Amino acid sequence: MKDRLKKIIPDSWLKAIRRLRQSRIVKKIQLLLLVKDDVTRFNASAFGLRKHQTYGNLISAITFHAHSIEKGLSHQNLRLGFGKKALAGLFSTLKTYKEGGYPLDDIRFQSGLSVIDEYIRIHNAHDFNIEETKIRFEPYRTLHTTAIGGTLDLRKEDILTATKGNFNDLVKMRFSTRDYSVQKVDVQLINQSIVTSMKTPSICNRQPWEVIVIQNKAIIDQVLTLQGGLTEHGSHLSTLLVVLSKGEYLMGPEERNQGYVDGGMFAMTLLYALHQNGLAVCPLNADFNRKIDRNLRTLLSISPHDSFIVMLSVGHYMESYKVPRSQRDDFSEITTYIL
Ligand SMILES: Cc1cc2nc3c(=O)[nH]c(=O)nc-3n(C[C@H](O)[C@H](O)[C@H](O)COP(=O)(O)O)c2cc1C
Repeated sequence: MKDRLKKIIPDSWLKAIRRLRQSRIVKKIQLLLLVKDDVTRFNASAFGLRKHQTYGNLISAITFHAHSIEKGLSHQNLRLGFGKKALAGLFSTLKTYKEGGYPLDDIRFQSGLSVIDEYIRIHNAHDFNIEETKIRFEPYRTLHTTAIGGTLDLRKEDILTATKGNFNDLVKMRFSTRDYSVQKVDVQLINQSIVTSMKTPSICNRQPWEVIVIQNKAIIDQVLTLQGGLTEHGSHLSTLLVVLSKGEYLMGPEERNQGYVDGGMFAMTLLYALHQNGLAVCPLNADFNRKIDRNLRTLLSISPHDSFIVMLSVGHYMESYKVPRSQRDDFSEITTYIL
């Protein structure tokens, strides 16, 4: 059909059609349609937007609430009785999950139960009354079979030894570390890590990334207040990196998300480079509402063409510290084969 049409339509018309298809106006329409599809997909999928929660929604929501409690449990100055909102969210999601008839040996479900179990144990040890939580946990106590959530105690020495090992050791002994020693970070170590990260692959080698290195304490505090993800952690934080992607380096509608891919890959290389250079790092989300986005852009003089990818808080390790366990799924659950 296409070939027959090509024979009937005059050459000049075909050229005009080709030109139109390559025109900016058509590309802008394609962009709108792709963005519309993005919005439809996200709206139909995300657990914060859907009314009826799927299995995927429920296990992710369990992890979301449980992680917030794990973070609280790993805090240096434990604030007894913390996390009422996260506990309410966790109990409510666990209940929907259980009533949905989903598997009770699921890693995420078990991890959620373990977090509450550790929460109760720690409060018992401090003789702090959390009767309501204990009562709510009672129906789940016998379902809790695997202790895979909560916190881990780490030692600087073990982490630094692992960074000298092979890639597997390096990866396995990397944990998001949120509190730091008083030792300031030498900017040369940051620069070295950025140099290593420049080797990150990117679309057509366009390298659409940028890093802002902040070592001014007053600015770090202002950024963290707006970012909001390191509350009650971040002691002695002296260095904050902001990773951006440059919209000007991208081309057409199909590349609308490419800055997040390349920027994310760059950020991951940077995270490992910092880790291998013996620095303690935590990625911090850069998912802002419009007001915070505007305020941060003004504060840090960020171009309107650039997008936030992620921030990295960086410091030196304390001798010993706690981190959330952040249990991972089994690889078989995320892998399919087409053989
Ligand atoms: C994009 C991104 C954003 C994150 N944002 C935050 C944050 O705002 N606050 C925080 O304490 N941790 C944050 N984290 C760290 C995660 O909680 C952590 O990576 C996860 O629990 C896995 O633990 P691990 O890094 O120790 O293996 C973020 C991680 C990523 C990758």
